[in-house]
This record gives sequence, C-alpha cells and structure tokens, in this order.
Amino acid sequence: MRQLEKRENVELCLATRGELDLRDARSVREFFDRRRPDQVFLAAAHVGGIDANQREPATFICDNLAIELSVIRAAAESRVADLLMFGSSCMYPRMDAEIVSEADLYTGPVEETSRAYAVAKLAGFEMCRAFRAQLGVRFFCMVPATIYGPFDHFFSERPHVVPALMRRFHRAVSEREAEVAVFGSGEALREFVYCDDVARAAVELSSLEDPPELVNVGSGEEVRISELARSIADIVGYAGRIVFDRSKPEGARRKALDSAHARALGWSPGVELRHGLERSYRWYVEELERRAAQRRGGNVREETACVSL
Ligand SMILES: NC(=O)c1ccc[n+]([C@@H]2O[C@H](COP(=O)([O-])OP(=O)(O)OC[C@H]3O[C@@H](n4cnc5c(N)ncnc54)[C@H](OP(=O)(O)O)[C@@H]3O)[C@@H](O)[C@H]2O)c1
Repeated sequence: MRQLEKRENVELCLATRGELDLRDARSVREFFDRRRPDQVFLAAAHVGGIDANQREPATFICDNLAIELSVIRAAAESRVADLLMFGSSCMYPRMDAEIVSEADLYTGPVEETSRAYAVAKLAGFEMCRAFRAQLGVRFFCMVPATIYGPFDHFFSERPHVVPALMRRFHRAVSEREAEVAVFGSGEALREFVYCDDVARAAVELSSLEDPPELVNVGSGEEVRISELARSIADIVGYAGRIVFDRSKPEGARRKALDSAHARALGWSPGVELRHGLERSYRWYVEELERRAAQRRGGNVREETACVSL
C-alpha cells in the first residue's frame, strides 16, 4: 500500500479481513463486482514458519487454495487484466546446494516440511497460467526470497525467523538470560529481502506490458542462520551465549533465488541486510512501546507470547 499510495492516479480498493474473508468466494465476487478493480495484488495467504507448517498443514493447504480460487477466479470473471500473485520459494524443488531459478520449477520434489503450503502456491501459479492462456490476461506469479521488515509477525503465534530471533534476544536482554537456544544447526543458508524492496518489485513488474509468468525477487545476499542470529543479537544488544539446537528441524540447507530475470527487467534491491534488520528492530521496539502505552489506556488485547523458532 505504501508503494502504491506514492503513485498518481491510483485509487486503492481496500477491505479489512473482518469485512472480507478472502476464502469466501461469494463475498469476494461481490466485492469485485462492487469495486471493479483494474489491477490485483494477491499477497494474502496463510503463512508461517516450519513449526506452524508442521503443526497445521491442513490449514495451510485449505486456506491458501480457497483464497487463490476465490480471488484469481473473481479477478478473471470481472475482467481484471492484471494480477500478481505472491508465490513462495517452497514451490521449488528442495535444492540444497543450488541457487534456484525459474526454470527449476517442477524438476524435483518440494521440501517436505512445507509441502502443503507449496502445493497450494503451485496451484495458484497454475491458475494464473491457465487464465493467462485462456483469456490473454496478464496474470503472473512473483516469488520473493524470505521477506523481513517492519509489520512482520512480531506479535503472532507464527513468527518468521527474523522476528522470532528479535523477540527472543529482546526477551533475553530484558530477563538477563545467559544463553539463548536457536532451532537447527545454524548452518542453513538463507536469502532475505526487505519488504519495501519486494513491494516495489510487485508494482514495477506489474506495470510491464508482458510480465513473465514466474519471476524471482531476491536480494542476492545470503547469510547463515548462525550469522543472522549473531547480527540480531548485536543489534538488540545481547551479549550472552548463543547455542544451536540440532535436534530441531531447520528446513532446506540452502534457499537462495536466482533473480537475474527481475534484474534484467529493471528491478534491483535497495536495502542491505544489516540496515534492514536495524530498521526492523527499531520498528519492533517502537511498536512494543506503543502497545504498552495503549494497554495502560486499556485499548490493546494481550498477545499470546511465542518465542520458538
Ligand atoms: N514473508 C515471507 O518471507 C514470504 C516469502 C515469500 C513469499 N511470501 C508470500 O508473500 C505474501 C505475504 O506474506 P507475509 O509473510 O507478508 O504474510 P502476512 O504478513 O501474514 O500477510 C498476509 C496477509 O493475508 C491476510 N489474510 C490471510 N488470510 C486471509 C483471509 N482469509 N482473508 C483476508 N485476508 C487474509 C492476513 O491477514 P491477518 O493479518 O488478519 O492475518 C495478512 O494481512 C504471502 O502470499 C506469502 O506466501 C512471503
């Protein structure tokens, strides 16, 4: 929304989740009939880390299929010409050593821990392709690397790795803990991309006359989870010991995207990891303060604390 608001002649068609449950095909169709959008960004999805994917795979597959079916179909039926769906790197085969390019899709089995989510995302991608072939619309799928930044799941029960680590180290500082355990060996390599860079990619790629069917958007900056944990500990001001719990799952050993195509189309990332992490932590601390102030005023409900990675 921040990216789109900057543009001239853009009117945003918005609804809160309370007003419009995107799994509800009928309500979604009514919304499209009433608001008649020209362009759709399908970012909504049921998301979460490895833990949540393993605990509730049925919710991941059912909710995401339902959202995609109602939104992509309503867009096609109301003659929307442009739709971008957010895919996920889980759609690609588990490739432990390689950087994954768009051409690798369907070349092997997906990562087991996020299989249900991956299958739902693949189905959404196929819907985009099918409507594109059948109706000539510009429906396509953008696959971002792991997104982080302000407004991430810092307060939910399904935090991603960056907010989970920030929360964990923040608590360790305030409770003077001597040791923090991080799930997995710490050896896994991940590529993170700042949320505003992804949003800009979405807007820029959607304005192309002929966007690619599938396009990766990553920063190209890879980091080991152990290095990430140390950087975050440093930013948060935690000086204790960090141990890695190898008995816990950590997913693929490497997840990195080849984003050459997006770059060739004119997009490039603007925020490097350390800077983005600092901004994210600043946002988290300000948000904690804001929520504490509101609670003192009696306005904010208590959030469930969850610190597992
Ligand atoms: N985060 C990543 O690292 C990453 C990486 C690759 C791809 N992606 C993709 O990028 C997109 C955004 O991910 P995110 O991590 O930013 O997730 P997010 O913060 O949870 O955003 C998803 C949004 O979808 C909304 N939503 C979920 N179910 C809905 C429903 N039934 N009706 C209406 N709204 C619903 C959520 O509303 P509530 O806030 O009310 O739950 C939330 O605002 C997703 O499609 C995801 O697959 C994310």
